[in-house]
Amino acid sequence: MIRKCLFPAAGYGTRFLPATKAMPKEMLPIVNKPLIQYGVEEAFESGCTQIAIITGRNKRSIEDHFDISYELEREIQGTDKEHYLEGIRKIMHSCSFSYTRQNEMKGLGHAILTGETLIGDEPFGVILADDLCLNEKGRGVLAQMCNLYAKYHCAIVAIEEVDPSQVDKYGIIQGEEIEQGIFKVHSMIEKPSQEEAPSNLAIIGRYILIPEIFDILRTTPAGKKGEIQITDALQTLALQGKVIAYQFQGKRYDCGSVEGFIEATNVFYQRIKNAK
Ligand code: G1P
Repeated sequence: MIRKCLFPAAGYGTRFLPATKAMPKEMLPIVNKPLIQYGVEEAFESGCTQIAIITGRNKRSIEDHFDISYELEREIQGTDKEHYLEGIRKIMHSCSFSYTRQNEMKGLGHAILTGETLIGDEPFGVILADDLCLNEKGRGVLAQMCNLYAKYHCAIVAIEEVDPSQVDKYGIIQGEEIEQGIFKVHSMIEKPSQEEAPSNLAIIGRYILIPEIFDILRTTPAGKKGEIQITDALQTLALQGKVIAYQFQGKRYDCGSVEGFIEATNVFYQRIKNAK
């Protein structure tokens, strides 16, 4: 039912400078695979085959990554190195990729609004590639959310409990638990102080959005940090009873921070070693 997944990928990645000076942060690898490829694999596993990427200046290598490299293909064809390309070939074969540029950095809400031309009038997933999610016990986080969409037909945000000292890094929700781990959201606030926070349930970088969100974003004023926030637009939908929050199964690594990036690297390295 959800066919499209949007990847906002225009940000600067300042926390990883100088590595991200000329390279998109989404191309930073966890072991041997760029962050954005993990995200696209998760989208594909959930049934999305139309991948829409919001890029910006200096992001061309993302487009090249999801395209054929004829020279490389010729070099390694028939050699024992071919297996390295199996994963990316499968994705390129099964998905279409479209791109649009966000030429001003006016926040995540603005990035998502920029994607309207690629999404059109249908529900869609959003993946923030620097939140790398792994579910060892079953389906990926976006697939879990797509299942939920089939039941609730409304916007969905993935959440997890965070330490109260960390609430000012996230969108925080307040809601009523209607099923185990599923909340009807009453309100949400972007990066509140510990005193302001209505809970410690933090939104992570996985959303299912409904097309109404675009009209709301168009009139959402700049919020925290002077940026147009998706959390503020979702708050408008929440007041109409159209947002649920879902405590997902699996683990999320905050690869936008050096600590989370290193943790994910160690975990994924072990997985690759154990699989051999
Ligand atoms: C964005 C959202 C925030 C959300 C977070 C998840 O913030 O604005 O609500 O909790 O992603 O990673 P950012 O991390 O881009 O500052």
